[in-house]
Amino acid sequence: MLISGRGSNLQSIIDAVAAGDLDASIAVVISNRADAQGLSRARAAGIEALHVNPRDHPDRDSYDRAIAAALTARGVELVCLAGYMRLVGQPLLDAFPQRILNIHPSLLPAFPGLDAQRQALEHGAQVTGATVHLVTAALDGGPIVLQAAVPVLPDDTVETLSARVLIQEHRLYPEAIRIVLGGCWTLAGRRFVREATS
Ligand code: GRF
Repeated sequence: MLISGRGSNLQSIIDAVAAGDLDASIAVVISNRADAQGLSRARAAGIEALHVNPRDHPDRDSYDRAIAAALTARGVELVCLAGYMRLVGQPLLDAFPQRILNIHPSLLPAFPGLDAQRQALEHGAQVTGATVHLVTAALDGGPIVLQAAVPVLPDDTVETLSARVLIQEHRLYPEAIRIVLGGCWTLAGRRFVREATS
């Protein structure tokens, strides 16, 4: 898992694995920021936690190659971004084709990029939500795996709306990982299509 901060989505995945709701193991948590709270959450759960400092690398590609190498060395099969505040470059995309997930706090393609909850509020949207999607070179633009809708209430602030969206994020991400790891899906163009299971 790649993170940059608080790590509440990371925690929801740690908890889902611990509860037996998600048949997976978290090989490593990597942050581009040394002070990410998520690193402490990982260590508390006995998961290897690394700070990989962008300043130790001359450019973005070299940083992404270092991340890809660290993940590959640990036998990672699926990379999950959770509040990872960096663009994923081509070296990392190439190392994990269709194997990188991200969670975004809006109903994509509405409100990509930063401050999605503020964007929804200021736009006057009456419904927003959360999206788990495959990561491509397009920012928040990859195939949609799962979404959940959240109503925007008349007296919402960015904080109250974000808190309600986050509840859905924590439910959605472990479920999306389960679906993707399950492997019964294909891409039809940019549509993520789940195969019927008996
Ligand atoms: C979440 O809202 C996620 O959707 C967005 O960044 C936030 C990360 O929160 N990409 P956390 O670090 O998982 O608590």
